[in-house]
Amino acid sequence: MKLNYDVLIVGSGVAGLNTAMHLPEDKDVLVLSKDYAWECNTFFAQGGIAVASDKEDIPLHVKDTLNAGAGHCNKEAVELMCSEGPKAIKDLIDSGFQFDTDEKGDLLYTKEAAHSTNRILHAGGDATGRELHLFLMESLKFPILYNTQVIDLLIKDDICYGVEVFHDDKIFNIYAKKIVIASGGVGSLYEYHTNSRTISADIHGICCEHGIELKDMEMMQFHPTVFVQSTAVRKQLLSEALRGEGAKVVDEDGKRFLFDYDERGELSPRNVVSEALYEHREKTGKAIYLDVSSFETEHFKKRFPSIYFNMKNLGFNLPEDMIPIFPAFHYAIGGVKTNFDAKIETIKDIYFVGEVASVGVHGANRLASNSLLEGLVYSKRVANDITKTFTCKKSNLVFTCKEVTLVKDGDKTLKNELRNLMWQSAGIVRYEEKLKKALNRVEEMLELSTGKLIRLRLLTSRIIIQSALRRKKSLGAHYIRGENKV
Ligand code: SIN
Repeated sequence: MKLNYDVLIVGSGVAGLNTAMHLPEDKDVLVLSKDYAWECNTFFAQGGIAVASDKEDIPLHVKDTLNAGAGHCNKEAVELMCSEGPKAIKDLIDSGFQFDTDEKGDLLYTKEAAHSTNRILHAGGDATGRELHLFLMESLKFPILYNTQVIDLLIKDDICYGVEVFHDDKIFNIYAKKIVIASGGVGSLYEYHTNSRTISADIHGICCEHGIELKDMEMMQFHPTVFVQSTAVRKQLLSEALRGEGAKVVDEDGKRFLFDYDERGELSPRNVVSEALYEHREKTGKAIYLDVSSFETEHFKKRFPSIYFNMKNLGFNLPEDMIPIFPAFHYAIGGVKTNFDAKIETIKDIYFVGEVASVGVHGANRLASNSLLEGLVYSKRVANDITKTFTCKKSNLVFTCKEVTLVKDGDKTLKNELRNLMWQSAGIVRYEEKLKKALNRVEEMLELSTGKLIRLRLLTSRIIIQSALRRKKSLGAHYIRGENKV
């Protein structure tokens, strides 16, 4: 097997595959996928891709993103995403991707919470992520190595030379001139989440081991409308587009209680809706539902086919039946701190892009459907930067593979304890005392003799908790209550 490449891309979601799409064919590129290529968050994205619908909408898209981000965004990063977004979408369409259109062939834009206008493009109804993933996979001109888990970065003298991987029961190194990390977020750290099962914070943990800076790690986004009662690991998301197009949040008495919390009701920013659901249930003990009965049946089936069929398999007849909902972890806003070319200050020849990175576009609360756009825009910048700066002159260092045990007996029990601990302490509502207790427990677990994979989860959890403890006041997705409740 070949172990030396020009470019190595870790991750097969939108950021990884779109980087590959924009690299020249004469580059020797390998994409690494931890599992099947479609086990990534892109594949499960429902709502769509937010993009300015015309030139006049660009400043408005910037404004909505900054407002949702609660003053914590990097304005320049947002402006770049919103202004380069339309070209990224045009590129996609020109290369053959089909968004949903009306009978005349005009693009259909929908609305989601905290967007002041209809600017969400979608494909396959509510299967935007799946369609995009399929398209990028079909366009992929480079090989992909499946079932390959990155277990370390090969770094010497502040230069990255490649990655250490576990593949086919063996541990070995793969080298490259440029390494692109597009490995996604941290969903599996939480008991309830909407993420692919492969998204388990390994790379964040590896970054902690190498002293690579992670930023805004307290900013974890919870999606308000999730069918959390399913027994599957990945909980069924009920797209924000449902609320954008008329679905209501009600309690068991039929009360639309969201208006008690924010005058924008169902269309309030995601963190506001999640917190309102949490508080309403805490105060009243009442069950909460998503009511989609205002949709006409045939239209619902056509517009939201995945939700319709997935919920049918779970015993729901939509749009008639009410769907019990509660928030679940959805998206890691924080991540590896990068510049606008996805580079980090301390180590050369490595890029971090997509959900694993924090370039600053989401601030303290990501605006719905901005993440696929971020993935498209910033991965193209990665490809352009690699093309511009590529040199064959890099020396060929060889790293010895370390003896490492990835999983030990008892790790699964710890993993489940950690998932519950993160959900209870670093979840939708946080208390200082609970966070401190959780930190102590994580430190204790880190002292145990465990496999490397759970250690990486623990390191990432520790930094999330520490960041949450450092931020004393609530901001965006970080909601910390004054009084302590243990
Ligand atoms: C959704 O469809 O509600 C998810 C969109 C997103 O997370 O951006």
